[in-house]
Amino acid sequence: MKKKLLFIILPLLVVICAAAGYAIMNGSSTQAANQGGLMDKKILTAYFSWGGNTKYIAEKIHTQVGGDMFRIEPVTPYPADYNETAYGIAKEQKEKNIHPPIKSTDVSGYDIIFVGTPAWWYTMAPPVMTFLEENNFEGKTIVPFITHGGGGGYTIDKDMAQLAKGAKVLKPIVIFSRGDSNTDNDIKEWLEKLSL
Ligand SMILES: Cc1cc2nc3c(=O)[nH]c(=O)nc-3n(C[C@H](O)[C@H](O)[C@H](O)COP(=O)(O)O)c2cc1C
Repeated sequence: MKKKLLFIILPLLVVICAAAGYAIMNGSSTQAANQGGLMDKKILTAYFSWGGNTKYIAEKIHTQVGGDMFRIEPVTPYPADYNETAYGIAKEQKEKNIHPPIKSTDVSGYDIIFVGTPAWWYTMAPPVMTFLEENNFEGKTIVPFITHGGGGGYTIDKDMAQLAKGAKVLKPIVIFSRGDSNTDNDIKEWLEKLSL
């Protein structure tokens, strides 16, 4: 009788241990990535952030999708003062369509690039324009994420498609400021709906 029981219990234990090991090796971020079908893709989260909101959201997205992450940085940093940035240099760049030089970036090793920007003067921030123009996005997928101060996402996804030649640009997630207590869930649901 004891032997019979062992035959039943031992295989059960093996299955339970294997399942537990798999769950431990695949952390929660990979589980979310699986749901979005991202498992076999090389993923990058690239973002520009002046005040920290877009960085905060970039980190949340990165936690769920895995892969690499970097910050898009202008060679000449924007002033720390809001008015100087918003009504000085950023406004001038908008009016004159200036795409400022940025520190070197390389997307060549990636299939899916999450591109984050704050809304700046009704479109993406100028360093993100430089990033999209300077790199070769042919055959790659761009997934925009946008933070804003009340104006929404404007046509930033379409503006991105104009600059990133040959890229497929998917539906952005648009977040006011740095979101709220439901933002992690909003990101999860958005990722699940994307055809990645
Ligand atoms: C230069 C500048 C321009 C902005 N233009 C807009 C805008 O056109 N529409 C809007 O809703 N918010 C605008 N904002 C607010 C930002 O989009 C918002 O605060 C965003 O979350 C900031 O992201 P960050 O903290 O990553 O820089 C602007 C902010 C700055 C500094």
